[in-house]
Amino acid sequence: MAKTKIAYFCQSCGFESAKWLGKCPSCQQWNTFVEEILEKSSASVPNWKASPASSQRANKPVEVADITFKEEHRLLTPDKEFNRVLGGGIVAGSLVLIGGEPGIGKSTLMLQLALNMPNVKVLYVSGEESDHQIKMRAERLAPHPPEGGAFDATGSLTPPSGGRGAGACFILTETSTQNIFKQIEELQPDVLVIDSIQTLHSSHVESTPGSVSQVRECTAELLRFAKETSTPVFLIGHITKDGMIAGPKILEHMVDTVLQFEGDRHHVYRILRTIKNRFGSSSELGIYEMLGEGLREVSNPSEILLSQRDEPLSGITISATLEGMRPMLIETQALVSTSAYGTPQRTATGFDTKRMSMLLAVLEKRCGFRLGNQDVFLNITGGIRVEDPAIDLGLAAAIISSHQDIPIPAKTCFAGEIGLSGEIRAVNRVEQRIAEAQKLGFEQIFISKYNMPSAAKDKKRLDLSRYTIDVKPVGRIEEVFGLLFG
Ligand code: TYD
Ligand code: MG
Repeated sequence: MAKTKIAYFCQSCGFESAKWLGKCPSCQQWNTFVEEILEKSSASVPNWKASPASSQRANKPVEVADITFKEEHRLLTPDKEFNRVLGGGIVAGSLVLIGGEPGIGKSTLMLQLALNMPNVKVLYVSGEESDHQIKMRAERLAPHPPEGGAFDATGSLTPPSGGRGAGACFILTETSTQNIFKQIEELQPDVLVIDSIQTLHSSHVESTPGSVSQVRECTAELLRFAKETSTPVFLIGHITKDGMIAGPKILEHMVDTVLQFEGDRHHVYRILRTIKNRFGSSSELGIYEMLGEGLREVSNPSEILLSQRDEPLSGITISATLEGMRPMLIETQALVSTSAYGTPQRTATGFDTKRMSMLLAVLEKRCGFRLGNQDVFLNITGGIRVEDPAIDLGLAAAIISSHQDIPIPAKTCFAGEIGLSGEIRAVNRVEQRIAEAQKLGFEQIFISKYNMPSAAKDKKRLDLSRYTIDVKPVGRIEEVFGLLFG
């Protein structure tokens, strides 16, 4: 007989304790413990074949040189943005977590992917919607023409026999992991999608679906499945109010890759961001547009992020930023107006408010602009969030342009970080930013003079004669304003 046991789990890190605690000894968070009923099943029914008891192949230490390494095989999806975010395609046996707010489009993204995967069998397990609902959604999603050569030649994931050109997508509405694994054994899918991890439950744990111990157990079972069978598994995860993936933080440690699907629900643009990736860069970003017929990849983000304007307006600048490896031009807007109340308002959308305060202080102290009694609003258009410090210069120019009500000359672009003493600091990959600005028809770009080549070997790297765009190196913020506003 199974013995019922009660345990307390930290909602933040998953720490288990026999009694309730006010403060978690592991992650030091307060008031995070919840009670859960545990039931360790005494009968050792292996859930996935490789449950710890049955997978005790005693491993021996091996020398690194002796480990045979096959070329990392990656399965390419027809969705180029998705491939890039994953670091160049799906890695066999990887466990990928996709988090995002409700209604942002996680199910749409994964279903669209499942429907369009050429040559592979995908099993889409949904615990949230009925097969009718999924069918209705599938009908809405416009099919992508499958591209040739989508399968990696070295891939161990062999296409299903029968030589079906387009892949097959199977839907399973099920929440019990035991039943899911039973179906998997029969179907033998090449890719597994779970929508969502919070709806699954394992009979090995007695608590309710979505609780810390269930999420942890189900993820562990799926992880074993993924690693034992080299099947890539995608988990959709809910997000809590404060933007964390619901469930223990260890969920993020257990998986290989964490992707975040974000964006303003009222905007059409959605951003898929890599938070963690064991198989590639963790600062990649994919942009999608949510249309009536599903998500569409946006392959040239600069064009959509820049609004079409005929005459220059004050308070608007364009910055050359870098998201992951990709240069991107974005529009930064500022509105500075005299405060009606005692305390001026400071609001930033898509930008860190603390950094905005820092920029305002620098402008006040180093350039003598009186902004202390002004309301300041900053906005990054397109509903995206930028962390790249290179947008400092563009933002500062937007603030002053709005304050002075003088438009920035058209076809001008910025890329520079501002230091506390008002110096313009160098930014990384400046060549890529210049090239992107030039490609989009800009005529001048302000960059840090510290980005300019100083020695002959640097000259080869940043060869300004290659560009037709006018590159303006500046050292201090006052210089920029002198050049812009005279
Ligand atoms: P959904 O994938 O259900 O979100 P999640 O799984 O993250 O909760 O997305 C639902 C939203 O997407 C819903 O508000 C409607 C919108 N949508 C479209 O605009 N076009 C479409 O083709 C589909 C399927 C959904
Ligand atoms: Mg959903």
